[in-house]
Amino acid sequence: MSSQIDHLLNESRRFSPSPEFAAQAIGTAELYDEAKADREAFWARQANELITWDKSFTEVLDWSNPPFAKWFADGTLNVAYNCLDRHVEAGNGDRVALLFEGEPGDSRAVTYAELTDLVKRAANVLEGLGVTKGDRVALYLPMIPEAVAAMLACARIGAIHSVVFGGFSADSLRSRLDDAGAKLVITADGGYRKGKVSALKPAVDMALADRNGEGEQATVEHVLVIRRGENEVEWTEGRDLWWHEEVEAASPDHTAQGFEAETPLFVLYTSGTTGKPKGILHTSGGYLTQAAFTNRVVHDIHPETDVYWCTADIGWITGHSYVTYGPLANGATQVLYEGTPETPHPGRWWEIVQKYGVTVLYTAPTAIRSFMKQGRQIPQEFDLSSIRLLGSVGEPINPEAWVWYRDVIGGGHAPIVDTWWQTETGAIMISPLPGVTELTPGSAQNPIPGIEVSIVDEKGEEVEDGNGGLLVVTSPWPSMLRGIWGDPDRYVDTYWRMFADKGYYFAGDGARKDEDGDIWLLGRVDDVMNVSGHRLSTAEIESALVGNEAVAEAAVVGASDETTGQAVVAFVIIKENYLRAHKADGLAQNLRLWVGEQIGPIARPRDIYIVGELPKTRSGKIMRRLLRDVAEGREVGDTTTLADTAVMSVISKQVK
Ligand code: WT7
Repeated sequence: MSSQIDHLLNESRRFSPSPEFAAQAIGTAELYDEAKADREAFWARQANELITWDKSFTEVLDWSNPPFAKWFADGTLNVAYNCLDRHVEAGNGDRVALLFEGEPGDSRAVTYAELTDLVKRAANVLEGLGVTKGDRVALYLPMIPEAVAAMLACARIGAIHSVVFGGFSADSLRSRLDDAGAKLVITADGGYRKGKVSALKPAVDMALADRNGEGEQATVEHVLVIRRGENEVEWTEGRDLWWHEEVEAASPDHTAQGFEAETPLFVLYTSGTTGKPKGILHTSGGYLTQAAFTNRVVHDIHPETDVYWCTADIGWITGHSYVTYGPLANGATQVLYEGTPETPHPGRWWEIVQKYGVTVLYTAPTAIRSFMKQGRQIPQEFDLSSIRLLGSVGEPINPEAWVWYRDVIGGGHAPIVDTWWQTETGAIMISPLPGVTELTPGSAQNPIPGIEVSIVDEKGEEVEDGNGGLLVVTSPWPSMLRGIWGDPDRYVDTYWRMFADKGYYFAGDGARKDEDGDIWLLGRVDDVMNVSGHRLSTAEIESALVGNEAVAEAAVVGASDETTGQAVVAFVIIKENYLRAHKADGLAQNLRLWVGEQIGPIARPRDIYIVGELPKTRSGKIMRRLLRDVAEGREVGDTTTLADTAVMSVISKQVK
């Protein structure tokens, strides 16, 4: 098997930062030179400038036992102190940390002083319950200020939090609680989603029940319950405690102790392509350094003036690094929204941007494409003129969606940072710097200063520019994962075995570098198709389809084919506006021809199915494996990790 991925699509549009933007931007071109001259000294400077250390470090990187890295190992710090107390001590206690907007419309501003007070009390509560350094605490919560406070309370006492996304079932929660050996669960009576209360406490009760009747007890000793609504909850005396009662009764004094830089900060479970979820382990000093640095230079955060909004849930890594840790370490003011984008009306996000004067918005392509599907008239009803910078994360953003995002949401002028990274990388790795980089729609462009990547063939040799290959990270980085919880062998096997002789981290993604040196992400290598001996990327064909005026979203898979080995099969969603104005007759055939014109006959889909929805995980990623089952006429496989499990039966019917 060749790892070369054919490259077919060209994008020639370029957008330079405006002189005004460049003049005020925090990230400058000199950072690249500085990092190139001495990478470790560069990261040491960031760590010293962005973090307040209890005890300074003398060693930057210890890579004597690869792939187990240590960064700033003899330094000590308290992560929560860095996100809270020091801002209050610097006289910024009255600055708003969180502009909370509940889905039902309730809102609340929480200042740095208030958040610090809450976290100190919560830290005392946790200690009172016997939670100490190294203990695991699971959080199963809606997007409310207390969720951020709970993370920071764990960090403050050296406990390891493991946030489980509130949309996961009792079973998924239980398997994560067991794997982590959690001592405490922090949950809520419920949270608001899509206009309804989604009950969280009952799922915790179910998860903690002796499920198989064989006395298999969970490791959890207590459940702290935050009151979000007025929702009825069952109560287990002795085990369950109300958060508000405990917090009110707790002392407001708590001194933050410094912990070694490699103290585990959190475990976050991510489902690999197969098998049981992996508990990705992140530690303190290096993680916080890179999260804060990237939030500053990529999101260009000016804490005194910006109103920043990252729309990710804290159940994902994006919510860890770019809601809780990065922005709070930088003393930023941010919006925290509890609900879904379409509740109670499809313009809800834009109403929030207008209400708070959001200046920097960071979201995912899947959201952008769903807004495109509804049409620009919805955002255009709101005043979005405060927006000065946009960000994208989670998937390749195809050039059409990029240009729409800039025009409709960014007023035709806001730069877009397309940021590539992973749960495992902890923080942004590849991205433009918005005041420096000439932007190319659809490309994440360059590794950020201090990060080194390469695109290689299966032997680890760098491929020529213009050719596709495998994306690897060639040197350790501060926010890298430190392991998989309880399974060091799996850590080595999954990420480091493939290029063991070179010491490269293999990210699992295909990528290509173009003649300008810009990096294009081509999708997960497991999804790459082989058509008549050509390796085609899902991302490019999907991008071509979305480039057609009729198409809102597309997913492409390779289905086995007698003549070509694999054939391209596409599933597309048509824009609502387009359907109102045109007939859908012959559309599939037109789209086949369109892809042929855009990319070449080799990429022309054998079949195009027009569908109403695509199967997505709860974090918005398309599950191509299930579409492959449909395309090959098989029984559809395991759908339990889908956001909406009914979607596949609808698609199967539409395809028949
Ligand atoms: C995978 C990681 C990073 C936080 C959210 C997702 C894909 C991520 C981009 C991007 C193209 C991207 C990759 C990566 N991905 N960002 N800007 N362009 N692809 O974290 O769930 O760990 O997923 O998301 O395939 O490997 P995650």
